[in-house]
Amino acid sequence: GSAQKEIHMSSETERRVENLLDSSTGTQKADKFSGTSIQSAKQLPKDSDKTAGISVMETDGAMKEHSVELKERLEKQKESIHVKAMLTFREKLPAHKMKSEFLEAVAANKVLVVSGETGCGKTTQLPQFILEEEISSLRGSHCNIICTQPRRISAISVAARISNERGESLGETVGYQIRLESKRSEQTRLLFCTTGVLLRKLVQDPSLTGISHLLVDEIHERGMNEDFLLIILRDLLPKRPDLRLILMSATINADLFSKYFGNAPVIHIPGLTYPVQEMFLEDLLEKTRYAVKSESDNFQGYSRRRRRQQESKIDPITEHFEALFIYYDADISSVYKSYSASTRQSLEAWSGSETDLGLVEATIEYICRHEGPGAILVFLTGWDEISKLLDIVKTNNFLGDPTNFLLLPLHGSMPTVNQHEIFDRPPSSIRKIVLATNIAESSITIDDVVYVIDCGKAKETSYDALNKLACLLPSWISKASAHQRRGRAGRVQPGICYRLYPKMVHDAMLQYQPPEILRTPLQELCLQIKSLQLGAIGSFLSKALQPPDALSVQNAVELLKTIGALDDAEELTSLGRHLCTLPVDPNIGKMLLMGSIFQCVNPALTIAAALASRSPFVLPISRKEEADEAKRSFAGDSCSDHIALLKAFEGWKDAKRSGNEKSFCWENFLSIQTLKMIGDMRLQFLDLLSGIGFVDKSKGANVYNQYSDDMEMVCAVLCAGLYPNVAQCKRRGKRTALYTKEVGKVDIHPASVNAGVHVFPLPYLVYSEKVKTSSVYIRDSTNISDYALLMFGGNLIPSKNGDGIEMLDGYLQFSASKSVLGLIKKLRGEVDRLLKRK
Ligand code: CDP
Ligand code: MG
Repeated sequence: GSAQKEIHMSSETERRVENLLDSSTGTQKADKFSGTSIQSAKQLPKDSDKTAGISVMETDGAMKEHSVELKERLEKQKESIHVKAMLTFREKLPAHKMKSEFLEAVAANKVLVVSGETGCGKTTQLPQFILEEEISSLRGSHCNIICTQPRRISAISVAARISNERGESLGETVGYQIRLESKRSEQTRLLFCTTGVLLRKLVQDPSLTGISHLLVDEIHERGMNEDFLLIILRDLLPKRPDLRLILMSATINADLFSKYFGNAPVIHIPGLTYPVQEMFLEDLLEKTRYAVKSESDNFQGYSRRRRRQQESKIDPITEHFEALFIYYDADISSVYKSYSASTRQSLEAWSGSETDLGLVEATIEYICRHEGPGAILVFLTGWDEISKLLDIVKTNNFLGDPTNFLLLPLHGSMPTVNQHEIFDRPPSSIRKIVLATNIAESSITIDDVVYVIDCGKAKETSYDALNKLACLLPSWISKASAHQRRGRAGRVQPGICYRLYPKMVHDAMLQYQPPEILRTPLQELCLQIKSLQLGAIGSFLSKALQPPDALSVQNAVELLKTIGALDDAEELTSLGRHLCTLPVDPNIGKMLLMGSIFQCVNPALTIAAALASRSPFVLPISRKEEADEAKRSFAGDSCSDHIALLKAFEGWKDAKRSGNEKSFCWENFLSIQTLKMIGDMRLQFLDLLSGIGFVDKSKGANVYNQYSDDMEMVCAVLCAGLYPNVAQCKRRGKRTALYTKEVGKVDIHPASVNAGVHVFPLPYLVYSEKVKTSSVYIRDSTNISDYALLMFGGNLIPSKNGDGIEMLDGYLQFSASKSVLGLIKKLRGEVDRLLKRK
């Protein structure tokens, strides 16, 4: 059904997971917060700034001496055979031709925009040019270069690559820092970090003291963090006249950034890529048909096709297409013609669907059979499609002997250890096939790619401010992205880009993808603005490159007020201050905090980690009923998807201990990879909670898990975290109808354990998310009592008509005496006091 379509994780969600792992150093946060002494309660972080190479020497004499030392070392390095060989490679990169022009521009301008085709050497070469120039002109000890990356994996891989080019080990002159992980030393002069880490540095030091050059990479992606950083930097520049800012972008819309910084000069690095032939769906069919035709002169229609199919000579791709047309009961031209309006709207019909993996499979097979050697890079919409395709390949075994090919997934939330295989060139007898999300679009360059298969879509959130809905559907990428994807095929020789959609779809694509800041809920950003003391939220955001609309900002501020993170004057409350320190969605952060205050940390960690990443339940289309049944048995009679996943996680832990992890996961339709990720993430969350003094690990886990087996308590804490995502259950005869404040009637998502429930034991449901597909569904819900809502919901006021209590934002009408109201207020006051004290 249509509801199936949005249950998988989007590549953008993946990026959020990464950001989440990144956007905080998990360390000292409180120094800015007036009057509180959170700092003292915190443990020292694993990689505190004391190890930064960004340190100031004591005296002028010492600095000069150090600069001379650095220069001598650089000269010596250049003697090495390895470095010389690397230099030969580097000198061939297009960026090299622009070296002197670039360095002159850096010297002469505070802000510089550099654009260039992906792979031309921006990320690896430009920061190095600055580094070497500074060292050679004896400014080595003053120079502190930071280069930001939107993703963890690129920060690490680029730092490693540059160290290798320089014949050094990682962490000497060149290092990296991502959240909770870094490699750098006293000597480090060039540091790659994620944008999130830099934002954290700004909390500690708003003027970035000691940083000489700041390079912001991949700004064309228009990620929320990057757009946010640019506002801050534009305001900072007048206060830091000596800071040099270099913005790096693929060849997309560089003028926009230049204008934003008062017409800053733009340097364009001309590309040196090989031509890439472009094949649209129709060309693909034409070509494969022709291939078959030429084998047999009297190729005629389906009956012939079927015969040939039996002889298994027919091309997989043609076969697939014919099947597709039979399915549509039409020929290909009429398939296109039904989209003849060629407007964006008419494409929406196609837009919501996932990639046709059969077609991808057929195209891979076609390339392997008919085209020359070279790696294949496949762009899919998300992790979920990648894992499905991996399964298909493994089961269908269509590539024959598995030792003949190397199948590699590439997506943001992958553990970094596997990354090397992606870059390495296998022996020519082995076909490398990389299955990637749009992470491979511009930040990661795989040199030996000759074939690109582009599904034309990416899963991304779009935010419907009016209904406060986040929609998660695959949608067509922009022309700019399509261009990027195609370019990946022409790195070492002419390549081919197979587009799995007709040309007219391409023609109707948007020129650029709207920036993330316009597409996503803004509450985390609003908290960041407050914690960086950047003034009023609305006026700050109005300075953005493309400011979000007022309604979205208002919604975010309202939500933060509703959950108690901001007060009426839009200032941070004590809860808000703690939420700023947790690099997660404020709702998830609140769940963690309440979980520790109410001594059920373990379940809170597990549920929060799953909500912040993805559900461990896999949904095989063919065995859907069994899978639903397995999930339901975890839920028991709790009427809760969250309890189901909690029990599944605990079951997995037990199974792991007793050595039958695999069969347990197989029988219960659970993804081991996701469970592991949740396991890792919950440990990180535990570190964060202990870092801000909310759990004391030294006292042992029992202390903060007194109520971990008490599901009523766990559900109450869930309510604290998920509020105001509340639906009221109203009896309608034998069934229950569900209502939410914003959109009225909603349905339970078919994948939920609550999907078949007619009558709920308790009057409310809290839910993780509403999504809109064919109707509005609430996903992952938990049935809760009105007492939980009374304690953990919004503000309480006595109802107008006498005895009852009404919740200020209208979710709850509760009949009880005034003394209940008084009692609840006192209890809530105690929680506030606890939050203030920490
Ligand atoms: O940033 P930009 O896309 O302009 O290019 P880059 O990341 O600086 O990469 C320049 C070249 O270095 C790539 O085309 C690759 O040939 C090479 N490279 C590599 O071999 N291994 C890496 N890990 C990174 C880059
Ligand atoms: Mg780059």
